[in-house]
Amino acid sequence: MKLLIENWRKFLTEEEALVEKCWDGYSQAGLKKKGDRMVPNCVPIGENMNEAEGDYFPWLQQLRDDPEKFIEDQQDKGGRVGAGSFRTVVVPESDKDFVVKILRSTMRDAYMNKVEKLLGDEYPDVFPRVFAHDPDYDWIVLERVEPISTRNDEMLEEAMVATMPKLHQFAYDLLSLEDGSPSSDTKPFNMLRFIVMAAAPRLRPHQLGYGNHEAKMQLINKIQEFGLANEPWFAQLSKAMKRYGVQWNDLREGNVGIDMKTHTLKIIDASVFSPQAGEKDWN
Ligand SMILES: Nc1ncnc2c1ncn2[C@@H]1O[C@H](COP(=O)(O)OP(=O)(O)OP(=O)(O)O)[C@@H](O)[C@H]1O
Ligand SMILES: [Mg+2]
Repeated sequence: MKLLIENWRKFLTEEEALVEKCWDGYSQAGLKKKGDRMVPNCVPIGENMNEAEGDYFPWLQQLRDDPEKFIEDQQDKGGRVGAGSFRTVVVPESDKDFVVKILRSTMRDAYMNKVEKLLGDEYPDVFPRVFAHDPDYDWIVLERVEPISTRNDEMLEEAMVATMPKLHQFAYDLLSLEDGSPSSDTKPFNMLRFIVMAAAPRLRPHQLGYGNHEAKMQLINKIQEFGLANEPWFAQLSKAMKRYGVQWNDLREGNVGIDMKTHTLKIIDASVFSPQAGEKDWN
């Protein structure tokens, strides 16, 4: 375990040396030419971004004018990176750091895009930032994240270590067998499940699945208490879930990813299933 963390730290520092970063308050929107080399195109984050977003994404006007055609064109060029039950996701050919998420069938699902815009603004460490959106939320343009699959669960472990090192260690020790050896609960996707259950408001014992509910609830409560006290990312996730009604049971494979710049964990599908979900009146 310790070795894994050390390798990861080393990887992070090496990686950082290679990548030119933007100043605080600025974010990378593709690359631009400076003299004879390509450098990050750093644009201000926040309000100015929306006002002049067309300048930052040369392709945005095409998306605005004819979203169906834009998505079709990108798909023809092999830009499709995902499709869920509600939305199709493409990477614009000329801007591979971003994705466009567009509704598949009905505008009734637009609240799903809207809530991701709000979550990205309010909790940018936990959810990808949304840089542009259709006025009715037919589509949103957001940061591209590398989805994590169960075939690559080492990546999830590394992301959890980078995102919440203290909580990961705590949960790892807590969920290990009595002799300290790893258990099935310390496997990355199983541990993530414990962590998102611990972040969820009002978890009920009958939702816990197999096993001894009481013992499981005790573990979850311990993770929750430690996480809220020691790990800002966890505390942010927990707030987001409560305010906007993010469902813990969908925060799993296909819906989590790793941020390509910070190498931390991001929720790529907010999993809010009602426009009235959560305690905040956001729709
Ligand atoms: N920001 C992103 N960066 C890269 N890939 C993404 C991003 N967001 C989504 N994807 C990919 O697109 C797929 C579909 O996106 P998403 O899960 O948001 O759609 P959905 O219709 O809400 O899905 P579901 O069927 O899970 O409810 C994801 O599983 C993922 O592979
Ligand atoms: Mg999904």
